[in-house]
Amino acid sequence: LLSLDNSLPLKGKTALVTAGPTYESIDPVRFIGNHSSGKMGYAIAHRLKSLGAEVTLVSGPTALPTPLGIKTINIQSAQQMLEASAEEFKTADIIVMSAAVADYTPIDVAQQKIKKKEEEFSIQLKKTTDILAFLGRHKKKHQTLVGFALETNNEVEHAKEKLERKNLDFIVLNSLADKGAGFGTDTNKVTILSSIGEVNEFELKSKAEVANDICELILKHQNPSSP
Ligand code: CTP
Ligand code: CA
Repeated sequence: LLSLDNSLPLKGKTALVTAGPTYESIDPVRFIGNHSSGKMGYAIAHRLKSLGAEVTLVSGPTALPTPLGIKTINIQSAQQMLEASAEEFKTADIIVMSAAVADYTPIDVAQQKIKKKEEEFSIQLKKTTDILAFLGRHKKKHQTLVGFALETNNEVEHAKEKLERKNLDFIVLNSLADKGAGFGTDTNKVTILSSIGEVNEFELKSKAEVANDICELILKHQNPSSP
């Protein structure tokens, strides 16, 4: 019985994971999106479940199969991801925001398909709500909040700034420096910064292994007394 309990160290805990891209509609047939595959977030959701947590996954459009035993909420836009996440956040102990949320969305969505006319054409955009920052402002003491950062320059400095500004416990910095890391691939090279100033640099490894590393840190944060 004891060993069973040890293998499910997150039993009784609730987790919220976001994954994939968001699609911001331009007209009935077009959108602004990005190349996020959702693989990192799905791997984290699977790992948290295997550690015993009750997991809710808020997912943008991906080609991945709906995970068994994980409550999955499929959304399209950043606004829909915000609404679903804010609701699930209320009961979550662990929150991992791995989605690649659009920073901007069209001000107006055309009701009919936009016809081709002028040589030049532009779409006016407005900022979306930063979901992670919003949750950071409402974080309670029992909650572990994890964000991601994708940077191309002054990586650690920018990630540290986001960690502090968004009131996170951890930020996972994705390195684009290595080929085979990041969007669309099965591997990732990350550095994880913590709110208490720890810097964990990891090797290039599979997204499943990166998920294990992230969840190991979450586990320690949720159970600071355990070995
Ligand atoms: N994020 C979010 N809501 C948004 C934009 C981003 O929750 N509207 C979250 C992402 O899920 C990720 C983190 O913020 O966990 C960092 O995303 P990133 O794009 O690296 O940072 P931004 O704060 O959007 O800043 P910028 O794109 O200007 O670097
Ligand atoms: Ca962004």
